[in-house]
Amino acid sequence: MDWFARDFDCEAYFDIYRGKEREAATEGPALAACLDLPAGARVLDLPCGWGRLRPHLLARGYTSVGGDLSALNLRRHAVEHPGPTVRLDLRALPFRDRSADGVLCAYTSWGYFRTLEENLQQLREFARVLRPGGALVLDLVGRDGTARAIARVEGDWLDLEEDGVPYRERVRWSPDRRRVRTDRLCRGSRFQHDIWLPTDREAREALAAAGLALDRTWGGYLGEPLERLSERWIYRAVKPG
Ligand SMILES: C[S@@+](CC[C@H](N)C(=O)[O-])C[C@H]1O[C@@H](n2cnc3c(N)ncnc32)[C@H](O)[C@@H]1O
Repeated sequence: MDWFARDFDCEAYFDIYRGKEREAATEGPALAACLDLPAGARVLDLPCGWGRLRPHLLARGYTSVGGDLSALNLRRHAVEHPGPTVRLDLRALPFRDRSADGVLCAYTSWGYFRTLEENLQQLREFARVLRPGGALVLDLVGRDGTARAIARVEGDWLDLEEDGVPYRERVRWSPDRRRVRTDRLCRGSRFQHDIWLPTDREAREALAAAGLALDRTWGGYLGEPLERLSERWIYRAVKPG
């Protein structure tokens, strides 16, 4: 089974990422503003996880449809942030061409697939479902800042804690240093995220290869400029036409 089908569909994932619901109060309004669409715009939240960003898309006046692979996340979404959702794979979206005004891809939800072609396919699908003039916001962790942080702890098992829930974590680069592999042990569950972290140039090239025109960038949720060591690399790209 692919890591991304296993890791997010497990209750312990909610423990490790408990703080993200709180952080949505900052991230949600910022990312909704990055989309910069008029009220009434139809936004796809892809992937939506448990829907923590949905209230902020609605607060901005957008309508929102969420899509995710994880049945567990979608069940939680239905309870905590009720609204339309679809179970889907990011490589083959069940939406019509040109049917959305915006796509929000938040919190490093790109680079999960093994091949460049599959990761490009995800962006191509975003481009396909956007109407001309529609916008994608792609919110990634910055590769260079992450590399600096990993250098201090690479290969070490660390004892960490999230809101009182203890877990162990070890972070390593893949042998070609293109992907970050994060092992976590929490409440008897074992995770291994395995995510391609593109360079800034690779991210820009991939957006262009998918037929999207880069429009603006940010280096954080407070509107900071994108710099090499920025914590976030946030890209707004528009479908031409
Ligand atoms: C880090 S979470 C981010 C979720 C949401 N964007 C947020 O900010 O809370 C990544 C999400 O991607 C989903 N996912 C992973 N692989 C997927 C795939 N192939 N197709 C659809 N969703 C996928 C996971 O189930 C998980 O909910």
